[in-house]
Amino acid sequence: ENADRAKLLEAYELAGKLYRYLLMNTAEGKPALDYLRSRGMTDALIELFGIGYAPAGWETLSKFLEGRQFPLPLLEQGGLISARQDGSGYFDKFRDRVMFPILDWKGQTIAFAARAMGDAQPKYLNSPESMLFHKSRTLYNLHLARPHIRKSQELVLFEGYMDVIKSWESGVTNGVATMGTALTAEHAEAIRRLADRVVVAYDGDGAGQTAAYKSIPILENAGLAVRVALLPGNLDPDEYIRKHGSERYVREVITSAVPSIKYKLLYYRKNFRLQEDGEKLRYIRQAFKLIATIASPIEREHYVKELTNEFQLKFETAMQELNEIRLQSEKNERFGDNKDKPWNNVMN
Ligand code: CTP
Ligand code: MN
Ligand code: MN
Ligand code: MN
Ligand code: MN
Repeated sequence: ENADRAKLLEAYELAGKLYRYLLMNTAEGKPALDYLRSRGMTDALIELFGIGYAPAGWETLSKFLEGRQFPLPLLEQGGLISARQDGSGYFDKFRDRVMFPILDWKGQTIAFAARAMGDAQPKYLNSPESMLFHKSRTLYNLHLARPHIRKSQELVLFEGYMDVIKSWESGVTNGVATMGTALTAEHAEAIRRLADRVVVAYDGDGAGQTAAYKSIPILENAGLAVRVALLPGNLDPDEYIRKHGSERYVREVITSAVPSIKYKLLYYRKNFRLQEDGEKLRYIRQAFKLIATIASPIEREHYVKELTNEFQLKFETAMQELNEIRLQSEKNERFGDNKDKPWNNVMN
């Protein structure tokens, strides 16, 4: 119902205000502020991203909002407070955590991500799905990034909050996060309405790189041109910036992001022991199958050249192999194999 929505939005807005106040102006908030500073956050960034602190007490927010006549069952439904098991009332959902507000594209607070400062689990506690918040449709920081995305026609996609914020500080102002690696077709459609191109800058660890690989068809099916950033040494963007600085980050990670096809080649490679002849040949064959899917002849030739140079093959032999693969797949198509996606069996 619309009245409930409006009321819940108001509650989220007020909660954000309370958390910000507690972070910046109270002794209770000091450890959280120290934590943020230890992660290199300036006051300007804290303010711009609306970061706050949820205190350790059990009823700070619930009493605060109850006193302002918010119906507690609505706040529970909206994920700000939880009902006590014995039915005796409510308690705050977020306690003793750093609070990142999640805004919709209009700039309204629709959820929170609450980070533990120590080793408490989970690392991030998030607002649940609600009448305001649908994770599969929300991109963190779209509100601030939108004009920059439109202007550049490019969007940079991160996993996490800190990646977005530290990238912003480094000058990458067109960044948003999927808040994890669950990129959906809905996200991709929303991105496509703003931009032509995406740079996927997921974490450098195995999970992040696999997620980046899987994001490619989702984004390309929405009509986006995709590049993927290569994060070395399992670093995520925030960690990379901390270690190597902003300038090198922009130059060697964001600007140097590779086209999706190149990324797939690099990704396949990891599964082959290229020192062994048999494995090497299998990799080359896989690579040709992939290259054969490229629509543009110029691009095809480019990647064939890369491959022939690296493995010291004759260019003519390579082109012959490529043409055979393309012929074969046309035949398969004609006979109805893999009708929808004739190149789906690249990995087989
Ligand atoms: N995430 C989450 N809940 C968790 C862990 C992760 O919602 N328990 C989401 C968060 O949006 C997080 C993103 O997934 O930002 C990426 O996870 P991860 O790389 O593990 O966290 P970081 O963003 O690197 O977190 P930090 O830098 O604060 O340690
Ligand atoms: Mn466009
Ligand atoms: Mn990660
Ligand atoms: Mn990370
Ligand atoms: Mn991180």
